[in-house]
Amino acid sequence: MKITYFGHASFSLELKRKHIIFDPFISANELAKQVDVSKLKADYILLSHAHGDHVADVDSIAQNTGATIISNAEIVGYYNQKGLKGHPMNHGGKWKFDFGILKYVTAIHSSSFQDGTYGGNPGGFVIWNDENCFYYAGDTALTMDMKLIPMTCPNLDFAILPIGDNYTMDYDDACIASDFIECEKIIGCHYDTFGHIKIDQDAAKNAFAKRGKELILLSIGESLDL
Ligand code: NI
Ligand code: MN
Repeated sequence: MKITYFGHASFSLELKRKHIIFDPFISANELAKQVDVSKLKADYILLSHAHGDHVADVDSIAQNTGATIISNAEIVGYYNQKGLKGHPMNHGGKWKFDFGILKYVTAIHSSSFQDGTYGGNPGGFVIWNDENCFYYAGDTALTMDMKLIPMTCPNLDFAILPIGDNYTMDYDDACIASDFIECEKIIGCHYDTFGHIKIDQDAAKNAFAKRGKELILLSIGESLDL
């Protein structure tokens, strides 16, 4: 399985020959100027919540690719009204897609569109098939609900967690989260994009290393085979 980082909380994943884009905020990210959004392939766009730094490129990618938007019911309804297609979900529910089973799980954050439209409750995604199982947390605080993931889902191969502090948990809380979800391999996101979330990357990696865990911080545009 191939994963590519586009900066902030934006990733693209190739899973069972399907292209999945998470929280596309690329063209508006000064640090991701080298990524050409018009060339991205997408069968699905997964949205953790409605904030601008997660949905900026949804319209253009969905229009270019015809991708299906997967998110909470309010966010999918918002895009349905714009003529874009989607699959609405809510917390605790799962659905079998052609790339695997996806469970929509709790996140502690907020969720409204830039125009003030209500964006439902924020969430994260656990996705599994016969090859992989991983967790994309979205913007969230550390929450006890993360303990439900190993109780209700297969063992995680890796997890994508926010580590930038201020708007989400910091890397120390993300270490505790990695214990809650029983996962050894963490890919960090939501750090260094703007002032309030600048981190010391070495200190973050050390915090995980002390617990015998690995924190992977990808460069923008970098891909990894997992
Ligand atoms: Ni947010
Ligand atoms: Mn955010």
